[in-house]
Amino acid sequence: MKKITTISDLKKILQINREKGLSIGLVPTMGALHAGHISLVNKSVADNNVTVVSVFVNPTQFNDKNDLDRYPRTLDADTTLLEKAGCTIVFVPSVEEMYPEPDTRTFSFAPLDQVMEGPARPGHFNGVAQIVSKLFYAVEPDRAYFGQKDFQQVAIIRLMTKQLNLPIEIVSCPIMREDSGLALSSRNMLLSDEERKKATKISLALFKSTTFVPDKSVEEIKAFVKESLSSDLVFRMEYFEIVDGYTLQSVKSWDDASYIVGCITIYCGKIRLIDNVVYKK
Ligand code: PAF
Repeated sequence: MKKITTISDLKKILQINREKGLSIGLVPTMGALHAGHISLVNKSVADNNVTVVSVFVNPTQFNDKNDLDRYPRTLDADTTLLEKAGCTIVFVPSVEEMYPEPDTRTFSFAPLDQVMEGPARPGHFNGVAQIVSKLFYAVEPDRAYFGQKDFQQVAIIRLMTKQLNLPIEIVSCPIMREDSGLALSSRNMLLSDEERKKATKISLALFKSTTFVPDKSVEEIKAFVKESLSSDLVFRMEYFEIVDGYTLQSVKSWDDASYIVGCITIYCGKIRLIDNVVYKK
């Protein structure tokens, strides 16, 4: 595995691979890798001749400076995991390399970015689009891999790729979970042991709620999930929405869409966790 830090070196090496007719997969990450990321790398390694994994904590997608400062950084452990997983190139640029000038581009993904994480984290998806588009231009991959845990992010990146006419296949991969059901996240390592135990209630409430569909109404399911998690003071719900899986707009009844997903963002102590569950597909 090669470690590369500049876009020009990355482009040179990838051009040689492209001239040999080799396919390229990109897995964009912010590091602090866990089995969820590695499942994306495994998929890319299976699908492509060359797999590039970027490790870059992107400052423009953090609307909260404390969240950026607190974000875990574990490059040595990440490199070991990537090497084992068969990654070809790990791309670890500096902030100056990715943003030689402030990125003044503003993207609009309406209505996808006007719900859930959009209002909850102003500027977040603009920052994601800035960095992912830069990575797409730098790597020009055939395929790019994202986790379904960031459900809204995947929908927005698909739209951005179309808006920019980029010939890149966006591959979304299933959520990976601990045995307890807790969705794997780099943020889990910031939870105390006690919080981590309690955080398992989030996926349990989501899974349980799927067993009531379609007998209970959308409103009843929302109330069930909110009530299941409101009794414990460690939790502070940011939102739980039941949405059309394609348009991300709220549904009122199970007949409103062919693909329906419940998306939750909840604080467990100080740590912001997200998860989702499919109700209908
Ligand atoms: O999902 C993430 O880790 C980030 O949002 C991404 C896609 C790597 C962009 O910084």
